[in-house]
Amino acid sequence: MTPIVRLEHVTKDYLEGGQTRSVLGGVSAAFEAGHFVAIRGRSGSGKSTLLNLIAGIDQPTGGDIYIGGVCVSRLRARERTLFRRDNLGFIFQFFNLIPTLTVLENVRLPAELAGKPTGAQASALDLLEQVGLADRCDVFPDKLSGGEQQRVAIARALAQNPRLVLADEPTGNLDDKTGDTIMGLLDRLTRQAGRSLVMVTHSRQIAARADDVFEMHGGELRAVSHEALTAAAD
Ligand SMILES: Nc1ncnc2c1ncn2[C@@H]1O[C@H](COP(=O)(O)OP(=O)(O)OP(=O)(O)O)[C@@H](O)[C@H]1O
Ligand SMILES: [Mg+2]
Repeated sequence: MTPIVRLEHVTKDYLEGGQTRSVLGGVSAAFEAGHFVAIRGRSGSGKSTLLNLIAGIDQPTGGDIYIGGVCVSRLRARERTLFRRDNLGFIFQFFNLIPTLTVLENVRLPAELAGKPTGAQASALDLLEQVGLADRCDVFPDKLSGGEQQRVAIARALAQNPRLVLADEPTGNLDDKTGDTIMGLLDRLTRQAGRSLVMVTHSRQIAARADDVFEMHGGELRAVSHEALTAAAD
């Protein structure tokens, strides 16, 4: 298999009141390119911590993280930022749209930040069309429903044509039906478009749609079979 993400003995410690607390105790795993990978686990088990490390938003205490063969955990801060910009899209539970920018401006922002404004308008419009919001370009995020805001966030995450999309509970703040719509859209725009998707989710139903499921437990990441996923009670 060709892994898009490879984790080698990744550890993360936090300092708390002068004491070190280990959140990740040596995570090793590989996520296959083009797959939808779901990560489950109890609250506080370190799922967001791990996703932020893969995204390069945070740095591991130890171990290495490879994305598409590049050891991102050893890149300098500036290189890491550029790598993230050119290769990754990130979707958050609470959408994180910029409230003072319109829908279109939010989706254009990654291209603007990358200094590539040429064509940004057209591709932002195209993405908004794909998420069904082409007619809401000029409104501000607070005028949109949660599901609509998440669709804008998906369009924004795809603006730089990333090969890996990371999503931290993207349906966690939405009702089941809206969550389903978002999942369908994410699937179409990531896995079906040849991109890799790594998603943290509490939902067993959503995890069941993934190609591969992992569970974070005791600072470790374990593969879970679909049979075990369906059989287990929450
Ligand atoms: N910056 C930080 N400083 C200190 N401790 C932190 C920091 N970030 C996270 N933690 C701790 O690390 C542990 C894991 O947090 P994390 O946010 O990764 O959990 P999670 O699995 O995403 O939980 P949830 O399902 O509630 O989102 C928690 O106990 C949290 O308090
Ligand atoms: Mg979390």
